Order: sequence, then structure tokens, then C-alpha cells
Amino acid sequence: MKGKFITFEGTEGSGKTSVIKEIKTHYENLGFKILTTREPGGIRISEQIRSILLDKNNQEMDPRTEALLFAAARRQHVVEKILPALEEGYVVICDRFVDSSLIYQGDARGIGVDKVYDINYFAIEEALPDLTIFVDVRPEVGLERVFSTPNREVNRLDLESLEFHKKIYKGYLGLVEKYDRIKKVNGENPLDKVVNDTIALIDQIL
Ligand code: TMP
Repeated sequence: MKGKFITFEGTEGSGKTSVIKEIKTHYENLGFKILTTREPGGIRISEQIRSILLDKNNQEMDPRTEALLFAAARRQHVVEKILPALEEGYVVICDRFVDSSLIYQGDARGIGVDKVYDINYFAIEEALPDLTIFVDVRPEVGLERVFSTPNREVNRLDLESLEFHKKIYKGYLGLVEKYDRIKKVNGENPLDKVVNDTIALIDQIL
């Protein structure tokens, strides 16, 4: 594979989307070919699955249905967009990826991280990120940002309890310990500091 695959993870309101925007500009100015994308979504079929997953009316969704839909959206995204771009030498930057499923569905929904890993392995095979940045913002701080930002879309998962979001935060800290490819930046710092810390990590793999 000629390109590099970088993913961003974080709890709700961690600011990862703003960081990604700045990172894209920084590396494009240096002459890199950058493709930014997001999960669930990124392409037509997966965006359709996204709207089912995040619809506030779908409160009765079973946890395994949820896990399978995230994995299905991911499969299509990997095959149709991520792998072809990596083949062409792009640095692909994805807002959330498989670690979100391990934590939200595996851990917080209680399905089990190993079971969720298995269905995701079926979906993505060897397409794991070269680097994952965990933007570390405590859930209380992140949710406060979500609910105080005017016009921000509040989705089905944002509406979960603070306990649920605390579980997710703890789960991410566990993943940072477990996997070498996942690095943490302090997302409670001002944006330019978060961006510079992220660049220092990305520079190591580019
Ligand atoms: P976003 O707010 O970062 O766009 O993510 C949408 C929501 O979907 C967010 O609450 C996290 C959740 N999610 C999962 O539960 N599992 C996954 O695999 C992914 C990619 C997202």
C-alpha cells in the first residue's frame, strides 16, 4: 500500500472534526495528497446506513443490529473509498473507524469487544490504520460542548446517559494502553496546541 491510513477517535464533543480540518490544510500545504472521510458514512451507501443508525426515532434498535450496521457501512467504505485511495498514495484521514465499534458496541453496549472485533475483521480484513489519534476530552467537558453549540446536530448516541459516555471514555483509555498504534493527545488544550501535538505524531509516520 502506497499511502498511509490515519484515524481519529474520541468521545462526543472531543473536537476531532475541527482538528482533522486543520491537519488536512497543514499537510496539503506541504504537498501531500490528503483524503478526509468519516464513519459511519463517507460514501453514498454508508451515508444511507448512517442515517438509520443515528435516527433519534430508532430507539428500539437491538445492539447487535447496531454493531452489524456499523460494520456493514465500514465494509463498503473500505472497499469503495479507503483502499483505492491508499493504492493511489493518498494519506487517508478518517473521523472514527473500527475502534469506535470496539468501544461503543463492544464495551458500552455490552456485546463484548472480542465479538465486535470478529465481525469487524470480517468487514475490513487487513485494513487497519497505521496510526490512530485519540483526542482525549473528558465526557463531561465534551457533552457540555455538544449541547452548548448552537445548531449542532444531536444524534441518537449523544442522547445516551452520562454513565454511557463515561464508559466509552474509560474504554478508549484502555485501548490506548492496549494498542501501540493508538496515541493520545490532550483535546482540552486550545485548538492550535492540539493540532501541533497531532502533527508531531503524524510526522513520525509520514
Ligand atoms: P460522529 O458524531 O463522530 O459523527 O459519530 C456518530 C456516532 O456514531 C457517535 O455517537 C459514535 C457512534 N459510532 C459508533 O457507535 N460505532 C461506530 O463504529 C462508529 C463509527 C460511530
